[in-house]
Amino acid sequence: MVSNVQKQNRARFPFVYLNIATTADGKLAPANRKFVPFGSKRDHDHLLELRTEADAVMSGARTVDLFPVNMGPGPAKYRRMRLKNGLAEYNLRIVVSGSGSLDPRSEIFKHRFSPIIILTSERAPESRLKKLRALADEVMVCGGKEVDFKAALSWLREKWAVTRLLCEGGGEVNDALFRADLVDEIHLTLCPWVFGGRNAPTMADGRGARTLADANQIKMKSEKRIGDELFLVYEVLKRARRGI
Ligand SMILES: NC(=O)c1ccc[n+]([C@@H]2O[C@H](COP(=O)([O-])OP(=O)(O)OC[C@H]3O[C@@H](n4cnc5c(N)ncnc54)[C@H](OP(=O)(O)O)[C@@H]3O)[C@@H](O)[C@H]2O)c1
Repeated sequence: MVSNVQKQNRARFPFVYLNIATTADGKLAPANRKFVPFGSKRDHDHLLELRTEADAVMSGARTVDLFPVNMGPGPAKYRRMRLKNGLAEYNLRIVVSGSGSLDPRSEIFKHRFSPIIILTSERAPESRLKKLRALADEVMVCGGKEVDFKAALSWLREKWAVTRLLCEGGGEVNDALFRADLVDEIHLTLCPWVFGGRNAPTMADGRGARTLADANQIKMKSEKRIGDELFLVYEVLKRARRGI
């Protein structure tokens, strides 16, 4: 059943779902943060399938800088699925960079099939903003020291009609969304590897929660094993709904 708080949030913010693949020890990448494709082809197809249901796909600056991603819908088959789902053929692309340090040579800027929006903060100096404005379709300054995701998501909903937002990490952006109580659903693929390393990124890095009351409680919606991978879907129980 959808509560009143959920209904109000739906009207203000997009539905936010995360897609993440981790090793069995919960790591997104090795400690050197270099991208290592440890998921199967099935997991990659799953990523493209999830994009067919999103108005916009969002990632943090390090995810975009460290690996040549274009954050688009992929092959024609997936673009047809988007159209069938009543969405634009190409999803919007959103990159988060509070300091505006996003590399203007990043692969994403070489692909112009859909608008690119950069969410940044007042920490970003004008010189960097100028460079990014020349590359992106819109640069939104939203928040003082870090991006204020409540304001940003409500703006995305109003100005860009984003009702379903898929966040593909990394750990720092995910953590900021969790702290703001904005995540609705998690799609987690558990892969048969162990990276180890205390500095290796995890699903939610950054500041995290200090107490159990501040933590995000999740409820398993489905699980599916394909080969040695587990595809898990969790609903995030909103703190506001839990009376916190
Ligand atoms: N396995 C997977 O499914 C998966 C998915 C994605 C990424 N990864 C891996 O994860 C690693 C990257 O994750 P990460 O946690 O290091 O970085 P990230 O979350 O991709 O990006 C971090 C950057 O995003 C900006 N940012 C994040 N939260 C912000 C906030 N609240 N306000 C303002 N700016 C904010 C900052 O940019 P500025 O520094 O410019 O301010 C920050 O440095 C890479 O190794 C990547 O390969 C794995």
